[in-house]
Amino acid sequence: MLDALWQRRALLVSGKGGVGKTTLTAALARAAVASGRRVLVAEVEVSSDEQNGPSPLASLVGVREPGPRVTEVSPGLSFVRLSPIEGQRLFLQDVLPLKLMAEAAMRMRALRRFLEAAPALREMGVLYQMLHLIRSTRSDGGQRHPLCILDLPSTGHALALASLPDTLLSVMPGGPIGRSVREGMGLLRDPALTGALLVTLPEPLPVSETLELAAAIQRHRIPLAGGVLNRVPENPFSPDGRAAVEKLLGEHGPHQGQRALGRLDRARAAEARLAGSLPVPLFTVPELPATGIQLVERLAQYLTRPAPNAPSRAGAPS
Ligand SMILES: Nc1ncnc2c1ncn2[C@@H]1O[C@H](COP(=O)(O)OP(=O)(O)OP(=O)(O)O)[C@@H](O)[C@H]1O
Ligand SMILES: [Mg+2]
Repeated sequence: MLDALWQRRALLVSGKGGVGKTTLTAALARAAVASGRRVLVAEVEVSSDEQNGPSPLASLVGVREPGPRVTEVSPGLSFVRLSPIEGQRLFLQDVLPLKLMAEAAMRMRALRRFLEAAPALREMGVLYQMLHLIRSTRSDGGQRHPLCILDLPSTGHALALASLPDTLLSVMPGGPIGRSVREGMGLLRDPALTGALLVTLPEPLPVSETLELAAAIQRHRIPLAGGVLNRVPENPFSPDGRAAVEKLLGEHGPHQGQRALGRLDRARAAEARLAGSLPVPLFTVPELPATGIQLVERLAQYLTRPAPNAPSRAGAPS
């Protein structure tokens, strides 16, 4: 089921704050590595002042010093923090005839200020560095990073990245910039190469927001790869057991158990609504009693478990 995801070159993990994007990026990467893929997990540097600041993703994959250079964490798993400045440097290097000139240009304070001031140029740097990594090959000609999983910091960021090619092309349609933007656009918009994974929680409002995000992302012609319904509570009841519990709770007045039952119902409704509205597979991921790296390991195990026969052990598209 996940194999279809691993065939792509770039997975963009997006969703509202706190829904589990970073945790799932790390877990998906581990699951892909366990299936024999080589994976680069990437995050976007928040600001150039924080080039070496803390990174939740880096800690979850076991990197101590996150930075704009690729770090190999373990066989098959690498990490990078995409940096606008690094991407812009690579861009100038490709556009200006000599590497030395590109480096000299990047040292000019005025140029740096200009590049940092325009938000589109920040995004361009990020996109360019990502493209550069995706295109990079090894000495034997093979792909250095066959699969890149990018943890996007916010839905706004996903949309900014998605709308970037149009913005840039409208300003600079020709020349080397236009050419590299077109190339980026070709990659970002090809469903065989790129896909957005939209993470959400099993409650009505987050689901509505996710459906809006899915529509916005598609309007920008970024392909969707899947929905991820995260933190789905375990349903311990058989239909008979549930009826018995409801009867008991009914007889004894309001009780905390009723809240738990309500949560289960909302999770089921969320799953049905997403499965009915998203044009892509929906993966359901359970709420697990763990945190940090331990949670990532357990989620990766869950994602790579043998194909379940019983439909109640969700994870397959509905
Ligand atoms: N399946 C899960 N079961 C239990 N806890 C989870 C699960 N997924 C995520 N969490 C917890 O939810 C919290 C938020 O997760 P995470 O930081 O990955 O979200 P995020 O979407 O990356 O947040 P942000 O938008 O702030 O970057 C963390 O404490 C994490 O441990
Ligand atoms: Mg995060």
